[in-house]
Amino acid sequence: MIPHTSVPVSQRIGRFSYAIRNIVTEALRVEAAGTRVRYLNVGNPPAFGFQPPPHLVEAVERAMRNGENGYGPSPGISPAREAIAAEYTGRGWPVSADRVLVTSGTSEGIELALAALVDQDDEVLVPLPVYPLYTAVIGKLGARAVYYRTDPFRGWQPDLDHLNSVVTGAARVLVVIDPNNPTGATYPAATRRALIAFADQHGLALLADEVYGDLGYDGPVPPLGSLDPDAPIISFSSLSKGYVAPGWRTGWLAVSRSPRLDEVVGALKKLADGRLCSTVPMQHAIAPALAGDRSHQAAFRVALKERAMVTTKALQAIPGVTCVAPTAAFYAMPRVALPPGRTDEDYVLALLRATGVLCVYGSGFGMPADEGFLRIVFLASPDDLREIYALMREFTGNYLAGR
Ligand SMILES: Cc1ncc(COP(=O)(O)O)c(C=O)c1O
Repeated sequence: MIPHTSVPVSQRIGRFSYAIRNIVTEALRVEAAGTRVRYLNVGNPPAFGFQPPPHLVEAVERAMRNGENGYGPSPGISPAREAIAAEYTGRGWPVSADRVLVTSGTSEGIELALAALVDQDDEVLVPLPVYPLYTAVIGKLGARAVYYRTDPFRGWQPDLDHLNSVVTGAARVLVVIDPNNPTGATYPAATRRALIAFADQHGLALLADEVYGDLGYDGPVPPLGSLDPDAPIISFSSLSKGYVAPGWRTGWLAVSRSPRLDEVVGALKKLADGRLCSTVPMQHAIAPALAGDRSHQAAFRVALKERAMVTTKALQAIPGVTCVAPTAAFYAMPRVALPPGRTDEDYVLALLRATGVLCVYGSGFGMPADEGFLRIVFLASPDDLREIYALMREFTGNYLAGR
C-alpha cells in the first residue's frame, strides 16, 4: 500500500500572499462565535448598497439574450476596445484600439503586463504601502518587488529621493497607483511628471493603475499618459469601481503609442490568446459605460467624500491615532501608536475579536508591522461608520492603556 502523504504544493505559493482576504478566516471564526462582523476589508461597493447603473445591467442582459454567450476575440470585442481608446483619447492620452485589451478586471491586466515584462530576478518598483496583488504576482513570477516609499507626513506622496535611492540596473518596471489604494491619495501633476521622467531616465515601462481614476472627490483624475503621450505607459482600469460592478470581472489595459512598447503589445496579445477571452456578455457594457450616462459617478463621488470626512474626523479624534485625509476612492490608512512589542496584526486581530470590526493590517500592504498602520474601507453608511469608529475608539483606548 502506498502511504497517504499530502501532495506538496509548489514553492511559489509561499511567495503569494493577499492579506485583504486572508484575514477573513479569522472573521468567520468570530462570526461563528456570535459577534456581528463589520467587513471593512474589501473595497466592494455592491456589498454596501452601491450598484451599477441600470443601463449597464440592461446591456449585459441584452447581450446574453441576443446569444452573445460564446467565446469572443482574445483582445476583446471591437466596440469595447474602440470605446476604451476613445475614452483615453478624449482625456488627453491618444490611444489606438489595437493597443487595447479587454481583461478580467484590472487584476488580469496587471498579471498579463507583469508576465509580459519581467523575468526571474528582474526588479519591479512598487509603492509602499502597495496594493498586494502586485507583490503577489511579482513573487509568483520569481521577480523581485522593490518598494519606494510614499510619505504619510506629506499626504502619502511618493518619496522621489527614496525612489532614486532604491533603483538598480535590474529594474524593469515602475508601478504607479494613482488614485491610490490603500492610502486614498492622488498625486499632483508635478509628481506625476517626475515619475514619468524617472521611468524614462531608467528605461522602465510604467504601469499606471488608474482603476480609481473616476473617483477623485474633486472630479475624475486625468490619465497619467495625458502628461506625456509618448512615454512608455500601460494603463489599467475596469468597471469594478467607477461603474460599481466588481463582480463582472471586466476591465482593460491600454498601451501608449511609444514604439518602445511595440513588442510588449505583441507579447500581451500572445498571452491573451492563451486565456481565450474575458467574460463576453459583460464586455457589451463597456461602450455604454464609457460613452453613456455617468451621472451615477457624480453621486458616488459625493457619497465617498462625505464618508471620507466622517472617517478622517472620527479617527483623528481618537487619542493615539493619526489619519491622512483621503482625496479619492474609499480607503484610509490610519496609524495607531502601538505599544512596544505589538504589531499591526496584533491590533487588527484584537480589534476584530473585541468589536467585530475587520480592517486589514498595514503589513499586508508591505508596511513595517511595528508602525501600526491599518487600512479601512469606508463604504458603509455614515451612520454605520460613526458607530464603527465609536467601537474603535473605545477599544483603542483600552488597548493602548494595556487593559
Ligand atoms: C489598486 C487596485 N488595482 C487593482 C484592483 C483590482 O481591481 P479589478 O476588480 O478591476 O480587478 C484593485 C481592487 O481593489 C485595486 O485597489
